[in-house]
Amino acid sequence: MNIRLTLNNRPVSIDVPASSTLLEALRSARGLFGVKHGCETGECGACTVLFDGKPVNSCVMLAAQADGHHLTTIEAVGEHPQQGWRLTEGLDPIQEAFVETGAIQCGYCTPAMILAARALLERDADPTEEMVREALSGVLCRCTGYLKPVQAVLRAAAVLRGEVIEPIEGAAVPAPGVFTPPPGEPEEGIGPGPEVLTRAGVLPRMQVATRLRPWSAVGKPARKVDAVKLVQGKPAFAADFEMRGMLVAKVLHSPHAHAQIRRIDASRARAFPGVAAVLTWENLPRVVYSTAGQSDPIPGPLDTFSLDRKVRFVGDRVALVAAETEEIADEALKLIEVDYEPLPAVLDPAVATADSAPRIHDEAEYVNFAESDPSRNLAARIHIDIGDVEKGLAEADQVIEGEYWVPKVQQASIEPHVVITYWDEDDRLVIRTSTQVPFHVRRQLSPVLGLPPKRIRVIKPRIGGGFGGKQEVLIEDVAAHLTIATGRPVRFEYSRAEEFGAARSRHPMRLRMRTGVKKDGTITANEMVALSDTGAYGCHALTVTGNTGHKAMALYVGDGPYRLSPNIRFHADVVYTNTPPSGAYRGYGVPQGYWAVERHMQKVARTLGIDPLAFRLKNAIRSGELHPFSTAWSEGREPRPETINTCGLEDCVHQGAAAVKWFEKLGNPAWHAVPGKPHLRRGIGVATVMQGTAIPYLDMGGASLKINDDGSFNLLVGATDLGTGSDTVLAQQAAEVLGVPVDDIIVYSSDTDFTPFDKGAYASSTTYISGAAVVRAAEQVAERIRARAARMLAREATPVEAGEVVLGERHAWAPDGRSVSLAEVALDSLHHADQEQIMAVASYVSPVSPPPFAAQFAEVTVDIETGALTVDRLVMAVDSGVIVNPLTASGQVEGGMAQALGYAVCEEMLYDEKGHPRELSFRDYHIFAAHEMPELETIFVETVEPSHPFGVKAVAEIPMDGVAPAVGNAVLDACGADVVRAPITPERVWRALKGKGDWRSVNGDQ
Ligand code: FES
Ligand code: FES
Repeated sequence: MNIRLTLNNRPVSIDVPASSTLLEALRSARGLFGVKHGCETGECGACTVLFDGKPVNSCVMLAAQADGHHLTTIEAVGEHPQQGWRLTEGLDPIQEAFVETGAIQCGYCTPAMILAARALLERDADPTEEMVREALSGVLCRCTGYLKPVQAVLRAAAVLRGEVIEPIEGAAVPAPGVFTPPPGEPEEGIGPGPEVLTRAGVLPRMQVATRLRPWSAVGKPARKVDAVKLVQGKPAFAADFEMRGMLVAKVLHSPHAHAQIRRIDASRARAFPGVAAVLTWENLPRVVYSTAGQSDPIPGPLDTFSLDRKVRFVGDRVALVAAETEEIADEALKLIEVDYEPLPAVLDPAVATADSAPRIHDEAEYVNFAESDPSRNLAARIHIDIGDVEKGLAEADQVIEGEYWVPKVQQASIEPHVVITYWDEDDRLVIRTSTQVPFHVRRQLSPVLGLPPKRIRVIKPRIGGGFGGKQEVLIEDVAAHLTIATGRPVRFEYSRAEEFGAARSRHPMRLRMRTGVKKDGTITANEMVALSDTGAYGCHALTVTGNTGHKAMALYVGDGPYRLSPNIRFHADVVYTNTPPSGAYRGYGVPQGYWAVERHMQKVARTLGIDPLAFRLKNAIRSGELHPFSTAWSEGREPRPETINTCGLEDCVHQGAAAVKWFEKLGNPAWHAVPGKPHLRRGIGVATVMQGTAIPYLDMGGASLKINDDGSFNLLVGATDLGTGSDTVLAQQAAEVLGVPVDDIIVYSSDTDFTPFDKGAYASSTTYISGAAVVRAAEQVAERIRARAARMLAREATPVEAGEVVLGERHAWAPDGRSVSLAEVALDSLHHADQEQIMAVASYVSPVSPPPFAAQFAEVTVDIETGALTVDRLVMAVDSGVIVNPLTASGQVEGGMAQALGYAVCEEMLYDEKGHPRELSFRDYHIFAAHEMPELETIFVETVEPSHPFGVKAVAEIPMDGVAPAVGNAVLDACGADVVRAPITPERVWRALKGKGDWRSVNGDQ
């Protein structure tokens, strides 16, 4: 059918099928890829367009409904301010505000947020924060925590009203060594700019470490290098790419939790018009592999096939289809006849290793790793003994035990998994995929596809969030097999239901704690026994659960003699069940550990009647001490001793306590009461945490850098920015060494053909590991520039030694004040004398994994009649070493706290007695929206980590660790309800209050 409408201020006519959604029409028929999609069921808001000026979800409207109306997409809003000779009006003020406040992380939701904001500001020029949050509430963001987007809209509103706004980049970070105390009044903002009603300013508070010399790029709130394209909704993501003749792939998923495929007949599907290929297990070579995107050798069992004759969870793969259209592919799925022989399923991890339990992996090709034992459904077993736990327990005055549970939750990036594959003109297979690990994808898929790595090229475009979910070789093989089968380009994308039903998730665990303590609060021994559920496949089974102990049990070593020789035990069984596989999720096992450790430490402190902050600091590890697990375990590799160089935990505790007025609130009945509301109680809680920074002696980053004619530089990195801002902080580090502004560094990441190897984005490693590689490459380039500049300067007058030349302000300076510009150096080297391309490649592997530390505070209000829980405020004080970019780093902390808050209070994936998932959409699986967020505040306590050229440590994962236990401890403080199973739902609070049982009776399912 033909529809006529005004699209982006122009009259257009579009021919679309009558069944076409508005989203499909805009993306496919008009190529407006700024309209994103994350669910197709009207829940995420990524597909927002303005329909006669009002925001609507284009995925749930028919294109026909737009007939005669005015539509606006992000493509009509603002342009790059410099387009050669053509003058533009530049970015829209809202886009500009999103760029300067750092409101963009992955940028996938950004076009929708900007359109929603535009509709609001056209309605009301002077909105309140509440109105802004309401306006953004229809657009889900998994990255930002919404604080910076809200601030961006408020700033844009002020600009549009004609008010003068101080640019954020002009703001000074507080002077070295000075802590800016918390404001006296809640409404007071500390950042520059207009009166921002969110309590925190755009920039975080900082306790700044002393700089050895002033920096021009590092430590500054630089704009993200990719921000301008993202606020314009440019076609930067994997799905924003089309090829002539591209097929659509679909997967037939298992309806059974455990079954043998007796017979499968795809003949009717293959004969269906428009179907290009149907593949079953009978059509593919039988190659066992692991989908975990990790370095070689994979530290875990090999237990997965692209397609198998057995299915092991509801949602497991049965067949692959490629067809001309999505509708045809869907029809073909219905025509595949499968005769299943259902097998008994094991859904409860507590009985998975019982003799009577059905065996999930009985394939002959299974490859063990370490102590995996498929005959007992054991994917991994970890046992770590440090010191003598039994002796430590015997020496204790009291042994306190506790049992804690954490649920299965999902990464839920708004951009789903999406991949496009095609043969290029040299018959090399190109895999364009939304992945965190492009180099692992190439290496791991090589045997699966029967292609040597040299015939595979993996391109990572912009990623719309990953959070570990894309540290998995999850769907690339589906499209690749179908391209091999058909010779044609294939696109495969998970629907939101497939994301929930068949993608990876966080390992649910049961954690038992036993802690020996002296009366004075000295920990004499600490033990954790974990039961971890890896689901149907063992991807990341060993390493995720190992980190539960390695990072969470390392924090408390004890005091006095126990500090010198701690007694710590960690034991874990990681078991298979017939549920969707668990995998990597931001924090990588550590949030699970801290739920138990920090709830338990609270219990110990309360039992002993000791201040919980003092108790924690008394027993926590300190700088100069040996990381207790460093000699005991290293993800299945050889452990090597590591000393903690820097630990800002004590300052984090003090700064965070000051910010929340801890000592005025804890134990103060007046503060705990809510005037006029006797059914409400306030509570305050804390958790202290540590993480790691990369995997020592293993994780490698690589970078190459070359100079261009104008003195700018191309920085090619294999690292993958999945929204974290890593491209920007890498550019800042290069800019600092080379003495140029950040926008003279053109970053490209990543492509296995062109960029150096990098293990990928995980383990909080990019700023540290890839950053060190960038600094090394930049130092080599700087050396060449200095040598050439010295020669150029010597041509004019007195000789200059290369070592005397200093780079800065785009020039190379001699000690006498003469200089040549980097553009002149580049022209000289490329065109004039002794020509050479000034460039360098460098890589870095760290011998240490310096831990960041943090103190997480939470304030809550509990309704003691209903159990309803409101989290009012989250404050995190974090030592992540030197902060390269306060804007992007605080965005990471805010977004991490928001994600962790879901883990604390509402996110949980459950299955019925046949293994069918309960959560298949954002309606069932609630993630926080803008109007539901508590107040967020970030405080950075800088230390200078000596193992990195700029003193950095990791920041990406640690915000996931402390929120849930801090909220749990705050609930306990508020009303005495000790909820030991996360998430802390109102029902669990209510039952705990009424003493009606724990989570088992709440669910009735375990
Ligand atoms: S794609 Fe339209 S609301 Fe999610
Ligand atoms: S920035 Fe919002 S989803 Fe990533």
